[in-house]
Amino acid sequence: SGARTERARPWWQERRKELLDLAPKTGGLYVYDLPTVTARAKAVNSLASIDRAFYAMKANANPHVLKAIQAAGVGMECVSMGEVEHAREVLDLAPGDILFTPNFAPREEYEAALRLGVHLTIDGLHPLTEWPELFDGAEIILRVNPDRPRGHHAHVKTAGPKAKFGIALDALPAAKAAAEAAGARVVGLHAHAGSGVTEPEHWREIGAILAEAAARFEHVRLLNLGGGLGVPEAPDAKALDLAGVEQNLKALKKGAPGFELWMEPGRYLVAEAGVLLTRVTQIKHSFGTRFVGVATGMNSLIRPALYGARHEIVNLSRLGEAPAGLASIVGPICESADLLGAERLLPETEEGDVMLIATAGAYGRVMSSFYNRREPAGETALA
Ligand code: LLP
Repeated sequence: SGARTERARPWWQERRKELLDLAPKTGGLYVYDLPTVTARAKAVNSLASIDRAFYAMKANANPHVLKAIQAAGVGMECVSMGEVEHAREVLDLAPGDILFTPNFAPREEYEAALRLGVHLTIDGLHPLTEWPELFDGAEIILRVNPDRPRGHHAHVKTAGPKAKFGIALDALPAAKAAAEAAGARVVGLHAHAGSGVTEPEHWREIGAILAEAAARFEHVRLLNLGGGLGVPEAPDAKALDLAGVEQNLKALKKGAPGFELWMEPGRYLVAEAGVLLTRVTQIKHSFGTRFVGVATGMNSLIRPALYGARHEIVNLSRLGEAPAGLASIVGPICESADLLGAERLLPETEEGDVMLIATAGAYGRVMSSFYNRREPAGETALA
């Protein structure tokens, strides 16, 4: 159909032999294809209307991945001092290369950020009204709640009346007064409405809301349109039209000239660059379902359990073999939610086969746990 976008063969088909050699005997392994990361980082960074891109490193903080992204000219967006410290340990960064966007963080983190001189986003009035002494002479960005919830699941919508993020548009005058009273200068407005957005108009809409709000401020020179750039879940699903995003941003810039535009994507740079490898442990046929058990599960990749997210799953050992029917791919964790994929077509599959879970480079390893005292999947990167 016209909604479909032709996409290239995924890198992991080309690199199948290397991946089969890397597949661990036990547990799981995340493998990242650095050329894919670099290509994505460059694609975003070269959007003509984006003046500065920061990578939301919460998506994947692997040092090789961070280095590839920085080498493409993209800064780092951090949401905790832990992320700021990790970025500074791994990379050679100037303070201006770091954007710190905490939510309900303790006072000490703001103090540390201001000491370092990184870009700082304030996402409520409390820091300004309760700790005004921190902000005397500081330049700050205010996070706005644009009341436009977006995203692939309720859990990842970060705007609207129920959201804990940002300052409501009608509270902006109070935020401005609090910033002025503290002696801070508001130089930017920010909004991130949600994650996994594939409509290219989205960032224009957010930008227009921010530009209108900026008219109330004297010194706002930058608008940060957030991240949220989605990737397709199924192999035949529509990919985000990045050129379409650029068209929309161009129109935004025309309608609201004079602002620098920033973006802070996470998923888009890394999701498709990563796969999770794990081996088949056991097969079970029960009540008409073929269960294919693998050596790691929701302790390594919680997205299917948490969001009902769909990840393509293939038997890498038998890639291209004819399907032998449907199967449910399950991990070894003692929870019924430990289901990586339900009703998937798989070939005849045996103990020891290598299974590949695709599009696992974002919010995979970083969200893993030691639940059941099972070590989550490790990571490696391919140059
Ligand atoms: N900026 C801010 C302020 C954010 O809160 C986020 C993500 C991003 C940027 C990057 O969003 P991205 O471009 O990656 O969509 N664990 C969920 C996603 C949670 C996103 C949280 N915030 C998932 O696995 O889908």
